[in-house]
Amino acid sequence: MKNALPLLTPAAILVLAFLAAPAASPAAAEDADTPTFSRDIAPIFQRSCQRCHRPETAAPMSLITYEQIRPWARSIQRRVESRQMPPWHIDRTIGVYEPDPSLSDEEIALVTAWVDGGAPRGNPADLPPSIEWPDGDAWEYGEPDLVVEMQEDMVVPAEGPDLFVNFIADTGLTEDRYIRWIEVKPSKAGRPTVHHTMVYAIQDDAEYVGEDFFERDDDPNRRDADGNPVGSLLIEYAVGNTGDIYAENTGKLLMAGAKIRFSGHYHSLGEEIRDRQRVGFGFYPKGVVPKHRIVSTRLFAGLPSNRGWRNNELSIPPGADNVRHDGYRVLDRPIQLISFQAHMHYRGKGMELEAIHPDGRRELLTRIQNYDFNWQIAYPYKHPPVFPAGTVLHVTSYHDNSENNPYNPDPTAWVGWGNRTVDDMAIGWTNFVFLSDKDYEEHATAGAATGAGAGD
Ligand code: HEC
Repeated sequence: MKNALPLLTPAAILVLAFLAAPAASPAAAEDADTPTFSRDIAPIFQRSCQRCHRPETAAPMSLITYEQIRPWARSIQRRVESRQMPPWHIDRTIGVYEPDPSLSDEEIALVTAWVDGGAPRGNPADLPPSIEWPDGDAWEYGEPDLVVEMQEDMVVPAEGPDLFVNFIADTGLTEDRYIRWIEVKPSKAGRPTVHHTMVYAIQDDAEYVGEDFFERDDDPNRRDADGNPVGSLLIEYAVGNTGDIYAENTGKLLMAGAKIRFSGHYHSLGEEIRDRQRVGFGFYPKGVVPKHRIVSTRLFAGLPSNRGWRNNELSIPPGADNVRHDGYRVLDRPIQLISFQAHMHYRGKGMELEAIHPDGRRELLTRIQNYDFNWQIAYPYKHPPVFPAGTVLHVTSYHDNSENNPYNPDPTAWVGWGNRTVDDMAIGWTNFVFLSDKDYEEHATAGAATGAGAGD
């Protein structure tokens, strides 16, 4: 031992000195170092948990007051350390997103230290002002210009398998309007039973969407199980994701005569529950056409080219893990990409979105490495990247059909493309706006994200 000390580097000696310090006066050191709810933890919960964990949502408990949170401390620690909560399934080192509720390593360490330290309340005077979450029935962005409601109740039986249902409602719109914001409201009683709802506009927006460029979601040949046209996606509602407000001068089009399709996924909760959903729209003033129109479209993995989604070659052999499929979409004009969201079923494991620039440079935009079918999460880019015509959007999906996948209903099945949850899918939903060549040049010269755009 005598000779050991001189072998240590100065840095190691500092570390030893630091480690030794608390031992000198353990009680005092612990008091000062243990994070407190009021000072350290409440701000984290406000930012990353309360959007979902508040009254009248599908989350199991409210995480607002110390009294509500304290009994869950151990469970919170487990869920936070394993990064199950908040749900956020991407590689955090790739891309920058906003909003981004995920916790940094430092924040996770704070939660751990707080729980291990006995989850103390601390000084209530340290609490940040509480957030005024809107009442569950209030519209978050103001009074809507139009509310469209399901025309009958969805009756969710007390018990049974998950239900996937469609309701079509008329908008009654007699002229085209541009949407500034949109919000979906299941009824108060129904909210806990709604897993998610896709809301589509059934309308003839070929010219707007660009018929030749993107596979039409309302391709007249494409029908849902009831024979209704599928429509263009407006929003996907899920716990924590109830509405969208678009950037200045940016919107989605809702056309005269449009119908709304509510495509809901419900689960039973032990008692019969009725739900009737509404969607509220805030419009731009009559006659105003925002400069940028948002288009939602799907990139398919397992498709050799832009067209022919019905021939999707998704093929997932029994027992296989990391089954990879690729899809490519060539941009015929410049776009600005707003968000990315994966859609797969029980065997879904991961998905990546890459841009292959016209000069051949490849840029990984988002890596969903921990896909979980239970969550529908759109990842919005903080600095929406722009791409010129000729860029290829490349989407790669990974499925796990092995018995190690806890959600796998049957590892002996050969799985292909299909609507049933026991079939699978590999869709990358993208929200983007088309840009004129001039706007693209402006963005590009302003340095807005042609290069490491999504990532800086
Ligand atoms: C996007 C919505 C959402 C966000 C954000 C979110 N949660 Fe959750 N949380 C849920 C839902 C829904 C469940 C129930 C389903 C489940 O257990 O996965 C849940 C479950 C939990 C559970 C388990 C409860 C039980 O019954 O055992 C804990 C603990 C938890 N969340 C803590 C947190 C904490 C802490 C945060 C923030 C750091 C957070 N959650 C953020 C939606 C959310």
